[in-house]
Amino acid sequence: MATAVSTPNIAFIKYWGNRHSDWRLPAADSLSMTLDYPTVEVSIEPADVFSVHSEKELSTNEIGRFKKHLELTKKYLAQKGYKLKAKSYKLTIHSHIPPAIGLASSAAVFSAVAKAYAALIEEQDIRLTDEQISILARLGSGSAARSIMGGFVALQTTNYSLQTDDIDSAIAIQIAPASHWPLYDIVVCPSLKEKEHGSTEGHHLAHTSPHYAERLRQMPRRQQECIDAILQRDFEKLQRVAEEDALDLHKVAETSTPSLKYLTEDTHRITREIIKLRKREHLAALYTMDAGPTVHLICTEDAVKTVKEFAHAQKDCTVFETKVGSGATILTDRHRDPPQQEVSL
Ligand code: PMV
Repeated sequence: MATAVSTPNIAFIKYWGNRHSDWRLPAADSLSMTLDYPTVEVSIEPADVFSVHSEKELSTNEIGRFKKHLELTKKYLAQKGYKLKAKSYKLTIHSHIPPAIGLASSAAVFSAVAKAYAALIEEQDIRLTDEQISILARLGSGSAARSIMGGFVALQTTNYSLQTDDIDSAIAIQIAPASHWPLYDIVVCPSLKEKEHGSTEGHHLAHTSPHYAERLRQMPRRQQECIDAILQRDFEKLQRVAEEDALDLHKVAETSTPSLKYLTEDTHRITREIIKLRKREHLAALYTMDAGPTVHLICTEDAVKTVKEFAHAQKDCTVFETKVGSGATILTDRHRDPPQQEVSL
């Protein structure tokens, strides 16, 4: 059995739309910060029949997604000449993340699943690289690829010149480790109600928006500006490009057919107020929203106290205080139950 722990990530440059939906090959590159909290723990053990167990009751569709992910994982491993030992597996998921509210719960889950399969492969003395494990994660959820690594992580198309649609043509790459820039993400959730349209549906519909082609044209510039902002620790530059990209994603989602409206009046009120507050107090704080009404307030160490106060003052909202984290890890028995230290004098 292998157990892995992982966390969500928050995208500054967001993945929206695929160029190959079965492999979840993104139509453009994206970039995120891995968070340190809340966590998901996934254990995988050999079994005769495939099954998934979790506190939350899973629909047939959700179980089907994990099953398909295992099939794709086997397919990718076979291409490398590797094979999981068992015919099937039992997955057990313990999640501390409210699902489907724009807090990247699927990113945390599939990065943990991928890391656990990689640990099972490692029992055969085959060590997959983090980039290869990010491919396994991407086959379950595109953004999950980025949670394999800590710090600031890009999901990049490989072989740009060829633009191939191979299963391994997009991998996660760490731009900078967590220690590079201690940013916080104070997450304000106006509602814990699960959204009606998942991001998988959003990816399918992206091309129906009249704004999508322009979004794809702008993506390489935004990705580069974001990488530069992170490497230079330039918060103003990061704020400009991350807010531009978040608003653009929601413009595409809202103008697709059918229209996907993830943002609510509460979302707009919170973003309006944070803009006022940061002007008044010269705060290094930016807002961004994934596919849900949840507002992520990214800020520096200097701003975090004020941003936390602001977040907790939002009526009827649930707040998660997170910061940049170190990515998916394998939970060994040593981590679960630390042995008593024997001290010999
Ligand atoms: O990985 P998915 O299929 O859940 O898509 C993630 C989509 C966004 O969260 C909106 C953007 C992103 O890059 O994380």
